[in-house]
Amino acid sequence: MKIGIDSPLAPEEKARIVAECVENFNLYLNRWPEPRTTEGAVVEWEGEGCFVRDIEGREFIDCLGGFGIFALGHRHPQVLRAVKAQLDRLALHSQWLLNPVAADAARRLAEITPGDLRKTFWCSSGTEAVEGALKLARLYTHRPKYVSTINSFHGKTMGALSVTGRDLFRQPFEPLLETTFVPYGDIEAMRQAVDARTAAVILEPIQGEGGIRLPPDDYLPAVRELCTERGALLILDEVQTGLGRTGAMFGCNHSMVVPDVMCLGKALSGGVIPCAAFHSTDEIWRAFHPNPFYHTSTFGANPMATAAAAATIETLQADNLVWHAAETGQYFLDKLTELAAQFPALIRDVRGRGLLIGMETADAARGEAIAARLFERNVLVAYTLNKPEVIRIEPPLIITRELVDEVLTRFADALKEESK
Ligand SMILES: Cc1ncc(COP(=O)(O)O)c(C=O)c1O
Repeated sequence: MKIGIDSPLAPEEKARIVAECVENFNLYLNRWPEPRTTEGAVVEWEGEGCFVRDIEGREFIDCLGGFGIFALGHRHPQVLRAVKAQLDRLALHSQWLLNPVAADAARRLAEITPGDLRKTFWCSSGTEAVEGALKLARLYTHRPKYVSTINSFHGKTMGALSVTGRDLFRQPFEPLLETTFVPYGDIEAMRQAVDARTAAVILEPIQGEGGIRLPPDDYLPAVRELCTERGALLILDEVQTGLGRTGAMFGCNHSMVVPDVMCLGKALSGGVIPCAAFHSTDEIWRAFHPNPFYHTSTFGANPMATAAAAATIETLQADNLVWHAAETGQYFLDKLTELAAQFPALIRDVRGRGLLIGMETADAARGEAIAARLFERNVLVAYTLNKPEVIRIEPPLIITRELVDEVLTRFADALKEESK
């Protein structure tokens, strides 16, 4: 199942790159406190479709999908073509003239989002999209408070962190914005929390980092109704669920709920160049009109990123990938459920929608061990940030059944070994 061309690097050159990478990581990157060693270092080198290869040519099936970035897989030719063409013409925008690419991508986004959602602010990361949404809600409602859910994940900048439902990340940075946290899926708790001081309720249609948690079917419609009744905006954070991941174009489409503001990121990049957005109605957007500089971003609407976004939307539609995600996701989920039933001591639950699948293991240590066994078998997965016992399976939407079967074989093997 090899792809791409073999790396032309000589063995000494590869060894030098690995050693230099480890040293630079240890000295100059702040990602991990423990120093890395060259022994066993896996240095990523190339990607194509559903595969990532390290510098030695070891090939992984990417079932992590960059935490949702790679809806179209790695280096999708249509996105690459669009971004390269843009790069050759005008890489970044003047910041002063009208840019046709950003405008075209905004139109395409408005065409696929539900209800009256139409206006877009382009930015570069999910957390920025959430920041903008929170500001817009405050500006529109003139209210100070937010309501969010326990174990939610909305990003790590101050505003987004304020509504992220995990003390571990929040406490060192308090005081944050005033936010009430309620259990996800509990409409009564939501009713208690949303009041005349609430600017917005922010929710993920499915909690991703919270352990791939699906709400009851009537939850989002009830929250929608509550927000309308109490004059609070409903912000749906679709950074992870948006653009086909759950087998519908947006997570909210499953319950026919239209939010007031939608946040997008990850997949909007086409897996090629960072792109994110918040998106709302003409009526709410008017809150920005008194001053167009209330909210700005230098790199936000850049033409390479928005070309990637436009190509992503076009490809999702042309290749019927949302339908494919629903079909393949259901197949994957069914097969994983069958597999999990053989290992009740290891796995408590398998759940998900489309190609956003969570496997709840007995505990975090078990989850880590199973993920490590999959890594040994060249399958990339990871735990969910706020529920480490849940392994997330989030492959590119282009994954074939044949490749799903291959992953299932390796899964079965990994679980068999772990159960010994
Ligand atoms: C639902 C959700 N919102 C926001 C974010 C933050 O996105 P970013 O890491 O691009 O800032 C994430 C990231 O995982 C997410 O899953």
